[in-house]
Amino acid sequence: MADDLTIGTLLDSESAASARILASKLNRHTFWCGQSGSGKTYALGVALEQILLHTRLPLVILDPNSDFVRLPDMREDAPAAAAAELASRDIRVRRSTAGEGEPLRARFLSLPLRSRAAILQIDPLLDADDYNTMLRMETDIHLLPDHDLVAFIRSHPDRVRHKLAMRLENLGVAQWKLWAWGQRSVTDDIDDMPDATVVDLGGFATPPESRAAALAVLDHLWENREQRIGRLIVIDEAHNLCTPDPVTPVEKLLTERIVQIAAEGRKYGLWLLLSTQRPSKVHQNALSQCDNLALMRMSSPRDLAEIAEVFGYAPESLLERSPGFAQGQALFAGGFVDQPSLVQMGARLTREGGTDVKVPLR
Ligand SMILES: Nc1ncnc2c1ncn2[C@@H]1O[C@H](COP(=O)(O)OP(=O)(O)OP(=O)(O)O)[C@@H](O)[C@H]1O
Ligand SMILES: [Mg+2]
Repeated sequence: MADDLTIGTLLDSESAASARILASKLNRHTFWCGQSGSGKTYALGVALEQILLHTRLPLVILDPNSDFVRLPDMREDAPAAAAAELASRDIRVRRSTAGEGEPLRARFLSLPLRSRAAILQIDPLLDADDYNTMLRMETDIHLLPDHDLVAFIRSHPDRVRHKLAMRLENLGVAQWKLWAWGQRSVTDDIDDMPDATVVDLGGFATPPESRAAALAVLDHLWENREQRIGRLIVIDEAHNLCTPDPVTPVEKLLTERIVQIAAEGRKYGLWLLLSTQRPSKVHQNALSQCDNLALMRMSSPRDLAEIAEVFGYAPESLLERSPGFAQGQALFAGGFVDQPSLVQMGARLTREGGTDVKVPLR
């Protein structure tokens, strides 16, 4: 049993000593930050590979840019033994890009009422009739068919139900590819407890559909929190889902849910790993709950000052080196390292999804 996960080498060590994080301390929340191109997603991949290799901690990866969809694919230059071991892990990738792999689906009717109402932009007070109809439909929700919901609602004499059907159609929600309509949902995969579930949010036609998919996953994990299964919920580009300034009803629910998991999830085994470019882009109440910090290159003094203020356990003398970091260099601080240290991240074993677009040369 290995508690130490080797993620690279120590920067200030002449002998290039191994840099390690403590797997046992992933039972708290982690913040992973750095400006665009600093190497967050790549480095996150290195850490996730080590978690997959050395722990049984199930990963749920919310992947807005389809960066982790190739996590099951090994690089040709990966060391053979580690690659063979990693290849034996149960990594399920659920895709939102049409025609690519196993589709990402969720069940509309399994969502909590508040989430369904938010997707349909129904406010409990401003749209009291509609919301109340949804509320009253809850009693016979088990009778609703998993397919052709719109036709079913229309077949009922109640006019407010017809309005609901119209909303489903007018907002285009009824046509979303996300809905499982009787087929397997991504939550069924998560319940199977694979080593990792990659939830590809990058291929949907519109942001609302992508956010609804994330909400379906987070609601499911929260609703089943009493099972107390330790899970690491990785959210890359966390500003998409946990913005301090949510606008739409679904954005508000997402931020609320993530802040709630940040505040109360730890004791239920719901541990967050939030990755983003700037600390101010993620809600303060999620940020302030993070006991582990990985900081990559960050040249903005304002952002660094905020990091110093929120993460008091990161020494200023190391924080101020961040603007000089090369790609793949990071400061690790907090519970998951023995002591704050500067790290050169190691090489990935698995392939990346979308890599940077190159400038074409003549
Ligand atoms: N340690 C590394 N070794 C080799 N290549 C790397 C390393 N870190 C990053 N890269 C490459 O640099 C590019 C940018 O890295 P990455 O996508 O991880 O940045 P990022 O911080 O996640 O940026 P963004 O915030 O825009 O998502 C990628 O093409 C990646 O393959
Ligand atoms: Mg990235």
